[in-house]
Amino acid sequence: MKILVTGAKGMLAHDLIPVLREGHDIIAPAEEDLDITRRDVVHQAMRENSIDLVVNCAAYTQVDKAEEERGKAFLVNGLGVQNLALVCQDRGIPLCHISTDYVFDGTKATPYTPFDNTNPINAYGESKLAGEKYIQWIMNKFYIVRTSWLYGKNGSSFVSTILRLAREKQKLEVVNDQRGSPTSTLSLSRGINKLIESGAYGIYHFTDDTGGGISWYDFAGEIIRQSGSRTGVLPTTTDRFPRPAKRPSNSVLDISLFAAVTGYHPVPWKGALEEYLGQG
Ligand SMILES: NC(=O)c1ccc[n+]([C@@H]2O[C@H](COP(=O)([O-])OP(=O)(O)OC[C@H]3O[C@@H](n4cnc5c(N)ncnc54)[C@H](OP(=O)(O)O)[C@@H]3O)[C@@H](O)[C@H]2O)c1
Repeated sequence: MKILVTGAKGMLAHDLIPVLREGHDIIAPAEEDLDITRRDVVHQAMRENSIDLVVNCAAYTQVDKAEEERGKAFLVNGLGVQNLALVCQDRGIPLCHISTDYVFDGTKATPYTPFDNTNPINAYGESKLAGEKYIQWIMNKFYIVRTSWLYGKNGSSFVSTILRLAREKQKLEVVNDQRGSPTSTLSLSRGINKLIESGAYGIYHFTDDTGGGISWYDFAGEIIRQSGSRTGVLPTTTDRFPRPAKRPSNSVLDISLFAAVTGYHPVPWKGALEEYLGQG
């Protein structure tokens, strides 16, 4: 397939492009060349390149800043996605769109399935939900892949922050009352590669396998252990670290549908972290 990947300079796209290149012809313009908020530009890119499928990695991803930049977040995550949906639908090609665990409010006691009701509690989550809705209103051939706690080589993430803090401090306090599942961008890229070959359109959840979720404290402890650092990690609570955007306390995603449909089971999270750290 000839695939257009948007947001080419981002953390996910950096790993996704080489994975997709193994079996497909990839066109991956940076934001300067393909701004998804410009429908004319999106139209032109698709027309000129006879694209078979689009993977949207472009997004406004600054969760705290989105509280004061709501308009900007909705422009990219809502209207930008509407543009992609309109053009893809018009051309009869599928769109694979990446979304987030933050479309949920975190009040459920068990992992969220793709069939659970959404109810975002921050502006970023609302803007991402707007994008999902546009796709569902406009398109009939789409994949929406919700993921969580992403980390990868080409961006700053919880992993890179903990590694930096471990070099600077003897002890770290990390929240133990928010649960979710980390996901390496390499794992997600392999998952997306499988999904887009399935033709099984729909909404999916994909994370590395935590067997039901871990806390940020658990994650930090494992990062420290695997990196060989001697820094101590202490559990703390969210109310001791107030931030502009609220976070769901449970954002664990149920990944069983993804595995059932694609036959591809996400890898255990500790192994994914080992692979990431082994990349140097
Ligand atoms: N990171 C996470 O923990 C996480 C968790 C769950 C879901 N997700 C989702 O996963 C996807 C990939 O995230 P990521 O971490 O790879 O994000 P990222 O590193 O911020 O990449 C997004 C890319 O999109 C670009 N972009 C912004 N506005 C654009 C526009 N109007 N047109 C074209 N490109 C534009 C950004 O450029 P600039 O940097 O120059 O603005 C950036 O290069 C996103 O949909 C995100 O919502 C991420």
